[in-house]
Amino acid sequence: MPKLCVIPGDGIGREVIPPAVEVLKAVFPDLETIQVPAGWDCFLERGISVPEETLAAVRACGAALFGAVSSPSRKVEGYRSAILVLRQSLDLYASIRPVRSLPCVSPKPGVNLVIVRENTEGLYAGRERREGDTAIAERVITRRASQRIALRALVLLRSEGRRRLTIVHKANILPVTDGLFRDTVRETLEGQRQAGEEWTVDELLVDTAAMKIVSEPERLDALVTTNLFGDILSDAAAPWGGGMGLAPSLNWGDELALAEPVHGSAPDIAGQGIANPIGAVLSAAMLARLSWSLPEAADRIEAAVSAVLETGLVLPGGRLADGVTTEALTKAVLERL
Ligand code: NAI
Ligand code: MG
Repeated sequence: MPKLCVIPGDGIGREVIPPAVEVLKAVFPDLETIQVPAGWDCFLERGISVPEETLAAVRACGAALFGAVSSPSRKVEGYRSAILVLRQSLDLYASIRPVRSLPCVSPKPGVNLVIVRENTEGLYAGRERREGDTAIAERVITRRASQRIALRALVLLRSEGRRRLTIVHKANILPVTDGLFRDTVRETLEGQRQAGEEWTVDELLVDTAAMKIVSEPERLDALVTTNLFGDILSDAAAPWGGGMGLAPSLNWGDELALAEPVHGSAPDIAGQGIANPIGAVLSAAMLARLSWSLPEAADRIEAAVSAVLETGLVLPGGRLADGVTTEALTKAVLERL
C-alpha cells in the first residue's frame, strides 16, 4: 500500500481534507499518512509557501491529497502560489478534471466529459513584468509539454473507453503558440494510433468550446487544452457536475500525483463547518483509480457519494442543504461505503 502525503492548506482546505482522508482510510485501513504544510498561512508563519520538507514528503510518498490555498490577487514580495509551486516543482504536468452528471445536484443527466489541462506552462509560466505603464505576461508553449499532455490524454481515452478528443486552442489569434500546441498534440496522437482503435481527434476554438460546454455539454467527450484555458473551462463545466463543491481533479505527473478539489479556500464560508467535502472525496477516488491503479476502491467511493447525493443532503450548485454540516455529510458517506 502506498503512503499518502496530506496537505490541507488554507481555509476550507482544512475542513474538506480530513473527511477525504477518513474515507480513504475506511477503504484502505492500512494507509499511512503524513501531514505537511503549504499555503498562505504557511507563508505568513515561515516566509515560504511550500517548504522543502513538503516537496520531499510528496516525493517520498508518491501521492498527495491537497485541499486549497489562499492567494492574494496582488503581488506580495517573496510569495508564490503554493499550488503552482507544487505543480511546477514536482512536474505534475497534467491536470485531469472530469465533469459528470450526479444525482439530485446536476442540472441535467448525461454529461460525462473530462478536461485534460496542461499544468506547467502557458500563461502560468510566471513570466510577468512591468515596463513603465505597460504590463507584459509571456505565454510559453513547448513541443515537449504539448507532446506529453497529448500522451496523457491518450492514456485517459484508452482507459475510459472514450471516443473523441477535442483539442481546444486559439490558433486563429495565437498561431505561433497555439499552432504549435495543436499541431504537436495532433501529430503525437496520430503517431500512437494502434490498429483497430476508433477514437477521433477534432478541435475547437476556445470561445466556441466555452459555448458548447455551457449549451451542449453532453455532446463533449475528452478535451485537451493549455493551462489557462483549462482552468477557466473546468470551472465553467463544474455546474454540470453539481457545482464547485463537488468538482474533483488530479494533478498527474509520471511518478507523482496530487489530488485536489477544484475549488479554492472559500473564505466566505471557512470556519463554519459547512464546506462540502465531496470534491475532496472524489479527488481521493481519482488518486485511487489513476495513480494507485485501484479502480474497485474508486468505484466504491464514487458509489457511496452517489448514494448520499440521492438523499438530497447536497443542493444543486454544491452547497450543503440547510442544517447539514461537513461532519454529517462525511458520516453519511462513510455509512454507505
Ligand atoms: P472558491 O472556490 O474558494 O469559492 C468560490 C465559491 O464557491 C464561494 O462562494 C465558495 O463559498 C463556494 N465553494 C467553494 N468550495 C466549496 C465547498 N467545498 N463547499 C461549499 N461551497 C464552496 O474561489 P474564490 O472565492 O474565487 O477564491 C478564494 C481563494 O481561494 C482565493 O485566495 C484564491 O486564490 C484561492 N483559490 C485556490 C485554489 C487552489 O488552491 N487550487 C483554486 C481556486 C482559488
Ligand atoms: Mg481554477
